[in-house]
Amino acid sequence: MKKIVVAIDGYSSCGKSTTAKIVAKELHYAYIDTGAMYRAVTLYFLDHYIDLTNPKKINQALSEIHITFERNAKTQRNEVFLNGLNVEDEIRKMYISNKVSEVSVIPEVRHCLVKQQQKMGKKRGVVMDGRDIGTTVFPDAEVKVFMTADVYTRAKRRQEELLEKGEMVPIDEIIQNLQKRDHIDSTRKESPLMQAPDARLLDTTFITIDEQVDFVLEQVAAQIFQR
Ligand code: DC
Repeated sequence: MKKIVVAIDGYSSCGKSTTAKIVAKELHYAYIDTGAMYRAVTLYFLDHYIDLTNPKKINQALSEIHITFERNAKTQRNEVFLNGLNVEDEIRKMYISNKVSEVSVIPEVRHCLVKQQQKMGKKRGVVMDGRDIGTTVFPDAEVKVFMTADVYTRAKRRQEELLEKGEMVPIDEIIQNLQKRDHIDSTRKESPLMQAPDARLLDTTFITIDEQVDFVLEQVAAQIFQR
C-alpha cells in the first residue's frame, strides 16, 4: 500500500502528539515528535552552558548531539535519547519549556534538526508532529493538519500532564508560558509556526481525542485510496 507522510502542526498542547501517536499506531507508521528534538537540544545547551549568541559554539555543540527515539517495551512509548541517555522525562519539565522557544529560533539549530527530520521521513510512512512539518520539513506531505485550541483548554491539559509526572505548576504560569511560546514560535524568521495553505485546520477545544484521530485518519484514507 502507498506510504505517505502525515504532518501534524499547530500550537502547543492542542493534542498533537496524542493524536499523532495513535494515528501512527493505526497505520503501523513511525511516529516522530520533533518538539522532543528541540527540547533535547535545549537540555544539552543548558547542561553545557552554551552561549546562545555564539554560532561557532552552537555549531560545535550541535555536532556533539545525537538524538534517537527508542520504543520502551514496558510502557509501549517512544522515548527520546540524547547521546545514549534516556531524557524523556527531563525534557518535559517546565524549565525546558521555558527555554525551548529561545533555542528553536536559532537558525543553526533549525537547519540541523530539519535535515535530520527529513532523513527520518525519507522513506515516508511517518507521522510527524511539530510546528513547521507541513511548511518546511515536508512541504510535499500528503496529509497536513494544523491544530489549534483555546489557550485555557490547552493550559489545563498541560497542567494535567505535568501533574501526572509529579510537577505542580499554577495555571497562570502555564498560560504565560504557552502564550510566550506561541508568540516566539509564530514570529521567528526561520520557519515560523503557521498553517500551510494546503493544511486542514482542526480546532480541538471541544472535541475528543477519538474525534481528532478520526479527522486525521479520514484525510489519510482519502489520500491512500484517492477518494
Ligand atoms: O511540541 P513541543 O511543545 O514539545 O515543542 C517544544 C518547542 O519546540 C516549541 O515551543 C517550539 C519548538 N518546535 C519547533 O520550533 N519546531 C518544531 N517542528 C517542533 C517544535
